[in-house]
Amino acid sequence: MRKIVIAGNWKMNKTVAESVRLASEVAAAARDVQNVVVVVAPTYLALAKVADVLQGTKVKLAAQDVHWENQGAYTGKVSADMLKEIGVEYVIIGHSEQRTYFGETDDTVNKKVKKVLTLGMSPIICIGETLAERQGGRLESVLTTQVNGAYEGLSIDDARRTVIAYEPVWAIGTGVTATDDEAQQAHAFVRSLLAKLYGDELAQSISIQYGGSMKPENAAGLLAQKDIDGGLIGGAALKADSFLGIVTPGDTLSK
Ligand code: 13P
Repeated sequence: MRKIVIAGNWKMNKTVAESVRLASEVAAAARDVQNVVVVVAPTYLALAKVADVLQGTKVKLAAQDVHWENQGAYTGKVSADMLKEIGVEYVIIGHSEQRTYFGETDDTVNKKVKKVLTLGMSPIICIGETLAERQGGRLESVLTTQVNGAYEGLSIDDARRTVIAYEPVWAIGTGVTATDDEAQQAHAFVRSLLAKLYGDELAQSISIQYGGSMKPENAAGLLAQKDIDGGLIGGAALKADSFLGIVTPGDTLSK
């Protein structure tokens, strides 16, 4: 059975005070959730305070990025040990905004994934194609390169602790969502890549989230798809009621 993981990626939104407020609201609203792992990813600055708010609740804490070294002269960066110390359990790695604006590559994704796993946290590995890649017939080759790159050198036990977020770049922040069928097809393809690398049993156990303009209005249809095991939510995660409007239909499912 796969876990349904629904994570709010708050990106560069919310001050510390606003983050604390939103985290409290999400924790209160998610009190009775049974079947979904609910995760929030505030900015680095707010992580420690949000960690305090989430103590004793069902909501898990994620960071939006990490560096692969333990410490040292890496101005502006935060290490996995630092995240671990304050109670971070998931780390978003390879988000398309990191890839597009900040030079993230499949190689740096792989280094970050390995580091996070070493410390017992779970990476949420983001993959996805641009519109030009999809229209140019390169969807499968892009996803193959990204998955193979992220999992390079990972053992099956390491792989078991990963989560994938399939986020078509053209759907992120645009209001345009992949249709249920488009998303399901991409997810099934990603699962087939995992099966090639690690076998079918492992592939069936990995949660693959959908991300890209997911909202209460389209969540039930997407989450009902066979290979969609949750969501990575941007805009709709910035208010507790719309975030819970995605978590709630997820809570009725089992995969
Ligand atoms: P939106 O939900 O705002 O499209 O963002 C998706 C995303 O990038 C989550 O990581």
